[in-house]
Amino acid sequence: MREVIVLGGSQGEHLAIKVGSLLEAEIGSLEVEKFPDGELYIRVDSEVEGKTVVYINSLQRRPNESIVETLYTLDLIRDLGAREVHAVIPYMAYARQDSRFKPGEAISIYSLGKLFNSVRVDYLYTVDMHLHRVKDPSKLFGSNFENLTGVRELARHVREHFRLENLVVVGPDEESEQWAKIMAEELGGVEYSVLEKKRVGPEDVEIRVRGVDVRGKNVVVVDDIISTGGTIVECVKSLRKLGAKEVIVTCIHPILVGRAYNKLLRLRLLDLIGTDTVLSPISKVSVAPPIVSAIRGRLK
Ligand code: R5P
Repeated sequence: MREVIVLGGSQGEHLAIKVGSLLEAEIGSLEVEKFPDGELYIRVDSEVEGKTVVYINSLQRRPNESIVETLYTLDLIRDLGAREVHAVIPYMAYARQDSRFKPGEAISIYSLGKLFNSVRVDYLYTVDMHLHRVKDPSKLFGSNFENLTGVRELARHVREHFRLENLVVVGPDEESEQWAKIMAEELGGVEYSVLEKKRVGPEDVEIRVRGVDVRGKNVVVVDDIISTGGTIVECVKSLRKLGAKEVIVTCIHPILVGRAYNKLLRLRLLDLIGTDTVLSPISKVSVAPPIVSAIRGRLK
């Protein structure tokens, strides 16, 4: 059995501890400090030479700083003689900047892909990356890239905590249909759909759930990211106008910038659930199990 050590960066230590425990692996330690001028100081405080190293760090809140920390640490781990490097980036920043929407704009996710390729990791994993326009992510991150999902873990939480009849799953927009589909399957094959806006006159827009009547139904909303909360607030208000009964909101990456959490609390939801790809007051579900099974699959 090869020796595995799990390390967590400053936005990933909580997951490194959970993943290390599930893998029954050593949980190492990393020192990440800042010099007075803002430069980072990074030190691996555990022996990694000859070992399989799993490094976990998310790229949220201070994405630019987290990217530098992550890339420097991965380069360092290789430099210290790790045998194999598994990089886990539970929240991949810049994924929404995947196209040149206006002339001259940076397609930042491609630049980030090039940076990750330069640090020679053996395997790169992320969770529910916002992949809408990038059809083949291996073009960005190489063939050993894996996009895992935490939606099944969210669904398990809903199943274990609520006994709801008359259930329907709704995504707040077209792009969220992929997550709504998985959630609906995991909740026993219930109906699912997405919210859509339809122009019904020069000044009027009708909001409806495509093909589904939510009147009197309990709704589980699922999205990948909650950032400002604006999308979810609009979605829940629309569902209530359409006559929905109880509403549970779930998301993978609860980034919750500014007043987002309070805005969501005001919605008086039956529950508000996020995962721990990003630590937040709603991170009730862990993505450690899918990360562990993906790593185990590669260790065989
Ligand atoms: C958009 O396509 C994403 O899936 C999320 O719906 C969006 O990022 C949420 O952002 P906010 O919470 O700021 O509305």
